[in-house]
Amino acid sequence: MHNRLKTKFLGVKVKSPLVLPAGVMGMSFSGMHISETNGAGIVTSKSLTLQPRTGHKGPVISEFEGGILNCMGLCNPGISDGLKEVDQYKERSQTPVIVSVFATNTEDFLLLTKEVNNSKGDFLELNLSCPNVFDEFGIPLAASKDEVFNIVKAVKEISNIPVIAKLSPNVYNIVEIASAAQKAGADALCLINTVGPGMMIDAKMVKPVLFNKFGGLSGPCIKPIALKLIYQTYSAVSIPILGMGGVTYGKDAVEMLMAGATTIGVGTAVYYRGIEVFDKINNEIIQFMDENGYENIIDIPKLEKLYG
Ligand SMILES: Cc1cc2nc3c(=O)[nH]c(=O)nc-3n(C[C@H](O)[C@H](O)[C@H](O)COP(=O)(O)O)c2cc1C
Repeated sequence: MHNRLKTKFLGVKVKSPLVLPAGVMGMSFSGMHISETNGAGIVTSKSLTLQPRTGHKGPVISEFEGGILNCMGLCNPGISDGLKEVDQYKERSQTPVIVSVFATNTEDFLLLTKEVNNSKGDFLELNLSCPNVFDEFGIPLAASKDEVFNIVKAVKEISNIPVIAKLSPNVYNIVEIASAAQKAGADALCLINTVGPGMMIDAKMVKPVLFNKFGGLSGPCIKPIALKLIYQTYSAVSIPILGMGGVTYGKDAVEMLMAGATTIGVGTAVYYRGIEVFDKINNEIIQFMDENGYENIIDIPKLEKLYG
């Protein structure tokens, strides 16, 4: 690994700014492990809920010209078994792991936080923004600055590890929501979760492609939305941002850094470029640095902030 890519996230040294985002490589420790051995600097677990979930009926994922549409429906083994995978991973690796959890109210987030406190996880990510369980749970919590504030504040009071709030792109007031998370004590923000939801139609069959009909968009088509929201957020808050959304090549990662991200998620690109995508993007960032006279990753400049 290149020393030039070393950076820090929430005080922890990482070998690369690239992060495996929640859910993209399934639920087991092997998905995190294979991402790390292929160049990811941080890995994230699948979003874990108090009880196991089977998720939606298939097909749950489909590709279109600009990216993919998924409606996994938060299938996961539940917090207890999910944390066993996290601990198993940590027994074999020094690379930090973000434990992602999902709930629909403060009480359940607190129960999940207590479980995570007893694990080897390095960071706790609150998934406040899954768009694929609307039928069950309604509008994601990340649509409300008050919900975000109350949940983050309550979790911060009991969490033993730094707390990351994962926000939704499907809002008009990202700055208000990001600021509420910061005010409540969030140590970092993660954005963006999938966009939409949207839908695809199989015209011959006269049927929606996904069994669930609707799914969240990810991949290249969402990058401009991610960049804009990360830049607006970076302009307004002082906590670090884990930026993601459509990063496929080194130049996309550099753009995320310039928009204000400290670390960068690479999710859907794993499906396009294979698990080696982390090393490929690491090398492409180095190439950009060579061509543009930057010695280290932290020398890549940020854009001037929006609000002066
Ligand atoms: C198949 C799939 C499953 C996902 N599962 C989760 C999840 O469990 N929790 C979560 O917070 N985000 C989940 N996401 C969203 C990603 O973590 C990420 O925020 C999003 O895909 C944007 O990044 P990308 O364009 O690089 O994929 C999932 C995305 C995909 C494609």
